[in-house]
Amino acid sequence: MNSKILIIGACGQIGTELTSALRKQYGTEAVIASDIVTGNNELNSGPFKLLDATNYQAIENLIEKENVKEVYLMAAMLSANAEKMPMKAWDLNMTSLFNVLNLAKEKKIDKLFWPSSIAVFGPTSPRENTPQHSIMEPTTVYGISKQAGERWCEYYHKNFGVDVRSVRYPGLISYKTLPGGGTTDYAIDIFHEALKKNSYTCFLKEDSTLPMMYMEDAINATISLMEAPKESLSIRSSYNLAGISFNPAQLAQSIKTHLPDFKIRYAPDFRQKIADSWPQSIDDHVAQKDWGWKNQFSIEDITKIMLENLNQRYSLNTI
Ligand code: SER
Repeated sequence: MNSKILIIGACGQIGTELTSALRKQYGTEAVIASDIVTGNNELNSGPFKLLDATNYQAIENLIEKENVKEVYLMAAMLSANAEKMPMKAWDLNMTSLFNVLNLAKEKKIDKLFWPSSIAVFGPTSPRENTPQHSIMEPTTVYGISKQAGERWCEYYHKNFGVDVRSVRYPGLISYKTLPGGGTTDYAIDIFHEALKKNSYTCFLKEDSTLPMMYMEDAINATISLMEAPKESLSIRSSYNLAGISFNPAQLAQSIKTHLPDFKIRYAPDFRQKIADSWPQSIDDHVAQKDWGWKNQFSIEDITKIMLENLNQRYSLNTI
């Protein structure tokens, strides 16, 4: 039997689009989507399994039965939700990571992708052009779990030869699946509300600049990193990854070029503190050098794509 790829947490914002992209690249049957909840139609158009990322035995059984050799672990609790449920977030984010790291240590998996985040940085990190190697004192539960996860990835690589690869995603923008409980989610909500009400109440302040990226760029980064030759990778914690940086006022301005009457007001909530602890822009020259990373989508591109596609989805009633 040919070896297969498994995506754990395939129903989430990244997992959904990653599954489609991997199936396009390697063939539908070669890519198994899995999640703790049942998949949507797109995911179900290929192999789909119910799987709990915290259940080692269940993952082991599945990878042995299906001859899975490559795993993308996308299940995690994001920053805003994790502040509300710290222990649950810690347990999910760390247990799921240890499960796949240990399966790789036991040589049951050859290659592993695990996402980290800009949340590994904290208020003491340089906020502009945050370097690959920098002070990292995250102040959120999510950030602490990602930073600890990065240390463990590097440890498993150095001590057990585990081929684990990772990027620090910025806020990701997409129209296919909604994000769940992140601080950068405003940059998606705003498009939905712009189309529904022509106005938006933002939970971050107008000048909260954060690193952001269009989903297609994020998926390209993920797949290019996984396809890069082992020898070219100098980072086994997680690579900085930069797309663009903007704040809510700039995004609102970009939306106004399409919807001139669009109105935004600001009502910052607990997520403001999280945003204030994160970088505004990221230096990703190491990713550029090691595996040729390059961002493609600008704020203007993203605005146009989001409005056009969401408009279509609303008019076809597919949201
Ligand atoms: N987008 C994520 C969040 O806001 C950051 O990794 O939690």
